[in-house]
Amino acid sequence: MNDLRLHNLAIYNELEAATKRVMASGWFALGPEVKSFETAFAAWCGAAWCCGLANGTDAIELALRALGVERGDEVIVAANAGMYSATAIRAIGAEPVYADIDPATLNIDPTDVARCISSRTRAIIATHLFGRLCDMPALRALADQYGIPLLEDCAQAHGAALAGKKAGAWGDAAAFSFYPTKNLGALGDGGAVVTSRRDVLDTVMLLRQYGWESRYKVVRSGGSNSRLDELQAALLNVKLAHLAEWTRKRQALGKFYAQNIHHPLVQVSPFAAELHVYHLYVVRCSRRDELKLFLGERGIATDVHYPYLDYQQPLFAGQPIAQTRLPHSEAAVKEILTLPCYPELGIADAKYVADAINAWNP
Ligand SMILES: Cc1ncc(COP(=O)(O)O)c(C=O)c1O
Repeated sequence: MNDLRLHNLAIYNELEAATKRVMASGWFALGPEVKSFETAFAAWCGAAWCCGLANGTDAIELALRALGVERGDEVIVAANAGMYSATAIRAIGAEPVYADIDPATLNIDPTDVARCISSRTRAIIATHLFGRLCDMPALRALADQYGIPLLEDCAQAHGAALAGKKAGAWGDAAAFSFYPTKNLGALGDGGAVVTSRRDVLDTVMLLRQYGWESRYKVVRSGGSNSRLDELQAALLNVKLAHLAEWTRKRQALGKFYAQNIHHPLVQVSPFAAELHVYHLYVVRCSRRDELKLFLGERGIATDVHYPYLDYQQPLFAGQPIAQTRLPHSEAAVKEILTLPCYPELGIADAKYVADAINAWNP
């Protein structure tokens, strides 16, 4: 599905130089490398500020806390996005409320978000799944109409844009993950909150270090240890300079698949370079498991992102949340299949995948 060894070997010398620089500095957490990455990444997203954190799940949790979410509040979210947001919401003691997806994009449907709004709604999360922006103009308008903060989950969408505005610049806050497989990935865990709201930045800065205002002085509850390492920040600084080129390669693969997969049982979505960075290339197929097996026999690795809707997780068996019914999400979860798509995959490899699908005769 991916080859992270190849990905990092291509820029080995740059990564090595950054590693040596950090080792020689003797400064390993929240130092100049983190500062410089925060400045560069905020500017890259078109937002005012960035606060580096330990991972993307913490970024969602700390952003929600900074947006005012507390125990007992409701947060509206999609159910098909791997449970990361629900993990963060539940860590606060708040409740996820699930909205259905638009079947054409597999992203949260603003109309169904509107249905879910109640007097307890304290935030809406827009997860830009697979690298494609949600319908942000509609979600932004809805959030403004009801005065509810909007959080973007950009873990899969570094650089995706709509009308010239990037992921991370639409919400009151945005959470990013730099897990190694992400479009911008560290060599370990990393994350960030990006925001143009000064109050959100200030609160996340407190929360990432125990609620400290200054060393050992705790002024805020809900804090944790969620620092970004100097080493990861230095590596991310190197990689940020390559991200546009990697995105172009992902988009070339996305375009190739969209134009070259022709099978009556396999649905590809139209190529959408203006808003999609192809973190994952997902097709739909009513006989998904047979197709997966067929491709596996031809040496083609595929995966399912994700095999469980949040409320169908075994964790919730027998609980009221398991009674949730979202027809479009439930139809999609049985049909989605992720094809290989990463910058080091050549067009010849993608042709092998497309030819194999086209030759499938179930
Ligand atoms: C959509 C989405 N949100 C959040 C996360 C959580 O990020 P992390 O693994 O860095 O905690 C991930 C990835 O893992 C993700 O894909």
